[in-house]
Amino acid sequence: MILVTGGAGFIGANFVLDWLAIHDEPVINLDKLTYAGNPETLQSLQADTRHTLVQGDIGDTALVSQLLTQHQPRAVVNFAAESHVDRSIHGPGEFIQTNIVGTFNLLESVRGYWQMLPADQKEAFRFLHVSTDEVYGSLKKDDPAFTETSHIEPNSPYSASKAASDHLVRAWHHTYGLPVLTTNCSNNYGPYHFPEKLIPLMIVNALAGKALPVYGDGQQIRDWLYVKDHCSAIRRVLEAGRLGEIYNVGGWNEKANLDIVQTVCALLDELRPRLDAKPYRDQITYVTDRPGHDRRYAIDARKLEQELGWKPAETFESGIRKTVQWYLDHPDWVAHVQSGAYRDWVQKQYASGASDAGH
Ligand code: NAD
Ligand code: DAU
Repeated sequence: MILVTGGAGFIGANFVLDWLAIHDEPVINLDKLTYAGNPETLQSLQADTRHTLVQGDIGDTALVSQLLTQHQPRAVVNFAAESHVDRSIHGPGEFIQTNIVGTFNLLESVRGYWQMLPADQKEAFRFLHVSTDEVYGSLKKDDPAFTETSHIEPNSPYSASKAASDHLVRAWHHTYGLPVLTTNCSNNYGPYHFPEKLIPLMIVNALAGKALPVYGDGQQIRDWLYVKDHCSAIRRVLEAGRLGEIYNVGGWNEKANLDIVQTVCALLDELRPRLDAKPYRDQITYVTDRPGHDRRYAIDARKLEQELGWKPAETFESGIRKTVQWYLDHPDWVAHVQSGAYRDWVQKQYASGASDAGH
């Protein structure tokens, strides 16, 4: 079996659902169930004995050690993190606590368990750390894409905390021999994405007749990868990645934010036209920029492709259409994640801008 952390969040839950659709290998899913953790996403696994959801913190060494000893996983896949850049700007403390201190405690629990394994299991064991392209900082317009040897130059409290966790993972390999793998992926999108992030926020706000808040000039560039392609990359790295290595994961889909928002609007015009027949793009509103906003990310994923034969299955066009359709088909999931806590956050984030998003 494997231990997955943060498996009730966006990517972790997609990973668990896909894993159990492909394998029979059981999953212990350790998740603190913060505002971003949503057990409803895993509802289809409720009666599935291959999946056990445990509410708890990766930083709780007693709990993690007990889970490891009890279930004897052959691998740990670490998704657990505070993940939203804007939240890290408003309150970095939780990011330091979970992403840095939590990862440190998790590494120590795992190291204690791994050291006691019999030789064959010790050799086969893997700790896969899921990280982000944001650790590399911001690119200029014509800079080449990030490779695994690009400088680590994080600019937000979130990316700095993720970079710190990547460094800890690296050090635990070099110093203690812990068999680690790290993946640094670009922006994901797809089903079960919490509507505080760009794409799902635009979909739900558009449908609710609210403003579509574009930060600054909307010309910031991100590379976008369909979440199930990220999950397949993680499975492949877990299966065949070289110990201690970093693998960049990306979709070769660099897009400006405004283009993303306009694409979402055009798909909604087609799939769920407004009652007044006006285009959804009329709802676009420019709001105050994110402080320290990174201008451009781009991922060079050739190492993963050449060494391990991984390629994304979706194009941006096919993935974004599936995503918009998924949100149209799952209004209940969206309604349930829009809890009181979610509304408080949206109010705080957008109160000073020109937008009425989330109100
Ligand atoms: P998310 O915020 O949707 O989910 C994070 C999950 O971790 C939640 O279920 C939350 O309850 C859980 N969690 C938070 N703190 C915890 C703790 N202390 N102990 C246990 N569980 C805890 O995030 P996501 O978008 O699914 O991202 C997952 C991972 O992938 C993160 O490490 C993130 O940095 C990384 N990543 C995300 C993206 C992206 O585009 N979303 C891209 C690259 C890498
Ligand atoms: O690059 C990988 C990263 O992608 C992950 O590590 C993070 O966990 C994930 O949240 C994501 O970070 P971003 O900051 O790029 O994602 P977000 O969806 O918050 O924003 C995408 C872009 O859209 C960014 O340039 C900011 C902009 N934006 C975002 C929101 C929420 C807007 O213009 N308006 C908005 O309301």
